[in-house]
Amino acid sequence: MAFSSTLNHEELTFPEGFCWGAATAAYQVEGGWDADGKGPNVWDTFTHQGGDRVFRNQTADVACGSYARWEEDLKCIKQLGLTHYRFSLSWSRLLPDGTTGFINQKGNCFLKIEGIDYYNKMIDDLLANGVTPMVTLYHFDLPQHLEDQGGWKTGAIVEVFDAYAQFCFGTFGDRVKLWITINEPNVLAFCAYEKGLFPPGIPNPGTGAYQTAHNMIKAHAKAWHSYDSLFRKKQNGQVSLAFFSPWIAPANPASVTDQEAAKRAMALALDLFAKPIFIDGDYPAVLKSQVAAMSKKQGYLSSRLPEFTEEEKRMIKGSADFFAVQYYTTRLAKHHENSEKELNCLKDIDVEIFPDPSWQVSQQDSWIHVVPWGLRKLLKYIKDTYNNPVIYITENGFPQGDPAPLDDTQRWEYFRQTIQELYKAIHLDEVSLQGYYVWSLLDNFEWTEGYSSRFGLYCVDFDNPDLPRTPYKSAVEYAKVIQNNGIKGSL
Ligand code: BGC
Repeated sequence: MAFSSTLNHEELTFPEGFCWGAATAAYQVEGGWDADGKGPNVWDTFTHQGGDRVFRNQTADVACGSYARWEEDLKCIKQLGLTHYRFSLSWSRLLPDGTTGFINQKGNCFLKIEGIDYYNKMIDDLLANGVTPMVTLYHFDLPQHLEDQGGWKTGAIVEVFDAYAQFCFGTFGDRVKLWITINEPNVLAFCAYEKGLFPPGIPNPGTGAYQTAHNMIKAHAKAWHSYDSLFRKKQNGQVSLAFFSPWIAPANPASVTDQEAAKRAMALALDLFAKPIFIDGDYPAVLKSQVAAMSKKQGYLSSRLPEFTEEEKRMIKGSADFFAVQYYTTRLAKHHENSEKELNCLKDIDVEIFPDPSWQVSQQDSWIHVVPWGLRKLLKYIKDTYNNPVIYITENGFPQGDPAPLDDTQRWEYFRQTIQELYKAIHLDEVSLQGYYVWSLLDNFEWTEGYSSRFGLYCVDFDNPDLPRTPYKSAVEYAKVIQNNGIKGSL
């Protein structure tokens, strides 16, 4: 990466070509939940069932209306001067039942074309405006039909996901060069299949996360190999997957047991997924031994953490072209012995995790404690643990409550400090950081928090049927950062 001139600590200038982006996800912004033949996905089903699992039983049937209002989103993107825009494809908009078999049967049916055209237009418009698309294949919105067949719990999903990925590479890969296969497999595994907070809504403590993580890792790796062998030569793009990761520090930095606890917590939060893919095709040893020992005590015949075969390990190892990480917050960890009976992934590692009460929260009751320095630590950890990979921060953001003031001065201060930490990571720690994407371009449907949590650079007035977008102060300030390729600040 070319570094621009000498360091000047008044003007914190980023490396030439640094990517400044913002991100969204299909279900959270598109709306048009059943428009033009789109099939239902698990979030459509989950929100339509009600049952108070989502704030005020809100749905994303309309959300930001981006399916019908792409031009308005593009206006925001241009106003910001983004160099990169990350969005996801709605799997069931492209393949209503999730399988390519459906398309083959119907041929070029009208309904299929609608979904494809929508994304073609987005990609073409972005490129025409000098904005590089980064496209996520799957951001939590599994086609309902696939969930009905067992979803991520069944190994059969690996082939189905690969077919979908190949379909997308083949359809859009002539223009899309940055791909994310799965968004935050770790959040999905824990929130959906361990805790049951996300659809399908059925908790499986102690087993659900491991079982589904296992299949997601294999599905990603298979799709990466398909790209590698069938598309890379012609399309010359890059494929990875995006991990959510907090930074987890020892509660008492001087305590060896707390240090070990923090390492185990990082192993569960990030390395469970990243180590197989970036290092050796296998799970971290500490997790394998902890879960095996705990499973034995609980009377299981084998470990609740599944094993990869040697062939799978070979397939998984090295199956990513860059490291994509999404950072929101930091936690502290201390050793905490689990009573043998309790089935819970977190308990498997004998750790208690909590925030420092002195850290500010971005909004009342939020899980996001604002710790900009934690991101620098995390980046250094990734550099040291994963052989200095090229890193993209594919999401980072701070929510406001609803209603949110347009003058979000305090929130911009969080962003400013965060960008300053990125600068330190690049220049002082020599992390190969290539880009930064704010979550999110627009206020949107924040999963179980509905519209009560506003992450946008642009405010969306959800009470107005026209869903107007208005920039927060943070948008105006971020545009200046992008224009100057840096910020004013000090180290
Ligand atoms: C997800 C986004 C979500 C954001 C804020 C990330 O975990 O990828 O979909 O809106 O965090 O919670």
